[in-house]
Amino acid sequence: MCGIVGIVGTEPVAERLVDALRRLEYRGYDSAGVATIHDGKMDRRRAEGKLFNLEKVLDGEPLPGTIGIAHTRWATHGVPNVTNAHPHFVEGVAVVHNGIIENFSELKEELIAEGAVFESQTDTEVVAHLLAKYTRQGLDHKAAMLAMLNRVSGAYALVVMFADDAGTIMAARSGPPLAVGHGKGEMFLGSDAIALSPFTNEITYLVDGDFAVLTAQGARIMDFAGQPVTRTSQISQAATFLVDKGNHRHFMEKEIYEQPEIISHALSHYVDFAENVVKQPDMAIDFGSVSGLAISACGTAYLSGLVGKYWFERYARLPVEIDVASEFRYREIPLSKNQAALFISQSGETADTLASLRYCKDEGLKIGAIVNVRESTIARESDAIFPILAGPEIGVASTKAFTCQLAVLAALSISAGRARGTISADDEKAMIRHLIEMPRIMSQVLNEVQPQIETLSRDLSRFKDVLYLGRGTSFPLAMEGALKLKEISYIHAEGYAAGELKHGPIALIDENMPVIVIAPHDRFFEKTVSNMQEVAARGGKIIFITDERGAAASKLETMATIVLPNVDEIIAPMIFALPIQLLAYHTAVFMGTDVDQPRNLAKSVTVE
Ligand code: F6R
Repeated sequence: MCGIVGIVGTEPVAERLVDALRRLEYRGYDSAGVATIHDGKMDRRRAEGKLFNLEKVLDGEPLPGTIGIAHTRWATHGVPNVTNAHPHFVEGVAVVHNGIIENFSELKEELIAEGAVFESQTDTEVVAHLLAKYTRQGLDHKAAMLAMLNRVSGAYALVVMFADDAGTIMAARSGPPLAVGHGKGEMFLGSDAIALSPFTNEITYLVDGDFAVLTAQGARIMDFAGQPVTRTSQISQAATFLVDKGNHRHFMEKEIYEQPEIISHALSHYVDFAENVVKQPDMAIDFGSVSGLAISACGTAYLSGLVGKYWFERYARLPVEIDVASEFRYREIPLSKNQAALFISQSGETADTLASLRYCKDEGLKIGAIVNVRESTIARESDAIFPILAGPEIGVASTKAFTCQLAVLAALSISAGRARGTISADDEKAMIRHLIEMPRIMSQVLNEVQPQIETLSRDLSRFKDVLYLGRGTSFPLAMEGALKLKEISYIHAEGYAAGELKHGPIALIDENMPVIVIAPHDRFFEKTVSNMQEVAARGGKIIFITDERGAAASKLETMATIVLPNVDEIIAPMIFALPIQLLAYHTAVFMGTDVDQPRNLAKSVTVE
């Protein structure tokens, strides 16, 4: 997390650096800072909190200069305050950093023993001190950088400026992403291509172990031994994305409401609407011959993978091993080369997901990436890319990426079923017809349930704890509902498999804990209703999210019943995701929290 940017050119940079930071604020918003060199003097402005605060500081005290670096922070080491904000300055060296320097404590001790005085609590400052030390010892800037890179370990993207060289920016990547942008007489660096999109669409992505030296004329890329390496540039699609809220109050609201249109676009990539069949997927993975699938991801993306597990097992009879990436990467799971692996990530940069991918790659598995950002590291390291085509998701809480991930997983599981002969051509056509209908039903649901949910969210906001229950594919949805509610409203929420209720959580049930039951009238319905009875018998307040058949079949008294249209099992998770997103959204709005940038979170998690 943390967003970094740099410009070396001929025009003033401060305003453009802040403009680029605005597009990187999704990576962190604890503090922000910018530094430039002008007339041989390096200067900086920093501010705690959102970028807006930095802009105010810059309005009062502008920064001239045609070279500069900037940073928006997601705090790892040290509280979010001005002193810990980047850029960090030590004796004419300026550093911005994304990631974690894992050996910073020992380096700091060593540097302090040598007389260094640290200003901040950050791990980043050791980089600036090391560079200052090597420069003092007489190394030139490039040699100092290489010496420093050979001392630090961990995950980092680093961008560095030296006060006595107003024509050069240096950068290194070991983990978190870094993109070099090629302008006309100017060069750029950014955590992603979207940050650089107003300046250039010609991008070179650095890979792990790359060290780059940028001047206004171009970039030289080397390894950490200083040996030149060749990286080709590409034309990025990032500039085509329009990123504004439209008529909506928040990006999250906009992203919820654009789901019908976006999912229809995503489906058109995977489904032949004329023939009602799935288009032939990327041949790099042959679902027909694999012995099993390994799936890994984090957070909401993991929960979409969990729904995918139900589908791959049911429709394609394909065994699925799935785990959150932070566990998957260290479990030493025995895998066979006959298995394929799928990694799901909106950003395509999540550190744990990337590490799990690399683990599977080392084990010889074919790798598929279900990603939103097609130019991301996870996409680039995969054999097959399955884009979710959701467009930029700015709200930190994932909404449209989740349903688009589900749509892609649905299409892939049908395709796998066809390849393995476990679903008939008629079944496939029927399922595709349901998928084709889905955008229309999503629109209908969004319009119909919104007023009821807005009212309900006022009631929900009075509670401190909420339990979500579901069975089958509604179980991951229950967890997703709980995740959405807790991350943006800060109400404590848990999602449980409805059948697990009596093995523990039932002890919590009383009139102070609403239980949100997600239950379409599917093959699990009766069993879920029995679990609801258990809640009702203990005085629990039930919010029942069901369909018309379910509402007609249940006679239980509820705090509220949200009735959706009857839909087929294959599209139910995407349809039932909508009321749980809206419920979290309206509850958070009612409580007055920062919906798009909830506290402590960041959109792209590039540290472990
Ligand atoms: C929750 C949310 C997170 C992400 C998770 C993975 O609303 O957005 O849980 O799903 O951090 O991120 P990606 O998909 O970028 O790998």
